[in-house]
Amino acid sequence: MKLAILSRAPQSYSTQRLRTAAAQRGHRAKVLNTLRFAIDLSGEEPDLWFRGRPLSDYDAILPRIGNSITYFGTAVVRQFEQMDVYTPNTANGIANARDKLRANQILSRHNIALPATAFVRNRADVRPAIERVGGAPVVIKLLEGTQGIGVILAPQVKVAEAIIETLHSTKQNVLIQKFIAESRGRDIRALVVGDRVVAAMRRVANGDEFRSNVHRGGTVEPVTLDPAFEAAAVRSAQIMGLRVAGVDMLESDDGPLVMEVNSSPGLQGIETATKLDVAGAIIDFIANQVGFPEIDVRQRLNVSTGYGVAELLVHADAGLVGQSLGESGLWERDITVLTLHRGATVIPNPRKGVVLEVGDRLLCFGKLEEMRSMIPERRRRRQRVRRLPKEPIPDAPAG
Ligand SMILES: Nc1ncnc2c1ncn2[C@@H]1O[C@H](COP(=O)(O)OP(=O)(O)O)[C@@H](O)[C@H]1O
Ligand SMILES: [Mg+2]
Repeated sequence: MKLAILSRAPQSYSTQRLRTAAAQRGHRAKVLNTLRFAIDLSGEEPDLWFRGRPLSDYDAILPRIGNSITYFGTAVVRQFEQMDVYTPNTANGIANARDKLRANQILSRHNIALPATAFVRNRADVRPAIERVGGAPVVIKLLEGTQGIGVILAPQVKVAEAIIETLHSTKQNVLIQKFIAESRGRDIRALVVGDRVVAAMRRVANGDEFRSNVHRGGTVEPVTLDPAFEAAAVRSAQIMGLRVAGVDMLESDDGPLVMEVNSSPGLQGIETATKLDVAGAIIDFIANQVGFPEIDVRQRLNVSTGYGVAELLVHADAGLVGQSLGESGLWERDITVLTLHRGATVIPNPRKGVVLEVGDRLLCFGKLEEMRSMIPERRRRRQRVRRLPKEPIPDAPAG
């Protein structure tokens, strides 16, 4: 395979290890400075130039996009995606992971446990938000911080308010997060490659520091992960669309709480702590997946007029309960079931013999009109009874 490692730090430990691991396996790997690409949309097909010359063919890329160049870096990755070059981490995945709020919004939708978090803008909403996440001490985070910079522990509500107001006044967006006291000064970093955790470590903060980042003087030790932590890490990476990710979790009394998902995890700490060949695992995974470049499924499946993707819910009264997929009549209505979600499990490509249960969710491709009647009613968060208007509503003017 011919692999391009997109990085601005060719000499860093991680880049060197990835390059060596690729060479050891007989792959051709080049480190290309992300900022030297030119995106070219002038020709018939999406194209890329590098250092002023047309880019040669690559089978895969491994983006290592630093925080300071997210916009340009993800644009380059997206261009590779348009050119059907395999990437373990998509441009969307990288952009979503980079923003702590966006990441939390996406993860919370999928029942991943996170520390209670709030995001507000107006001064009047600050105090209630702090109270809602559990009061002081409370953690305040800049949306795009890394290495522990921009993560503050405020001991009292008043102090927290002052800090947040100050940051707001300088146009900084901040998250307000419950301080997970029992995990003080410790966290877990799980390195996810594909569908598994290939290495994990615990980071322990230095002295009375509460942030366990290695850049803040934290030390690392290998850990054997509890299955709950392993599952949370893998699911989080999958949901974010990242096949190579460092998932950070706090060890709370109620199990893992996912804090962030890093799309360019450093390898030095984890390889040193665990003595495992993480770089090799990443390269092997990419070599294995090269034939499956990212496809925006929804986009591709929507191009036939009248057809599309929808998630159907098996209602108690829908008549489907107890029937097998084969008997359900879906096939006759031109509806193909891609996956079946049942509670926390997913059955890909469910067979005709699978018997439907109440609450099953079917991800389907088919005629939109046929599927309309089966789309679940929109969930109402709170029931409301509307007041009648005081005056009768005047007729709309004609025309
Ligand atoms: N809600 C929290 N409760 C307890 N400790 C936290 C919390 N959030 C962060 N920390 C500590 O601070 C460190 C840095 O936070 P993190 O959100 O990972 O920011 P960064 O992206 O800068 O690493 C974490 O590794 C953890 O040790
Ligand atoms: Mg972190």
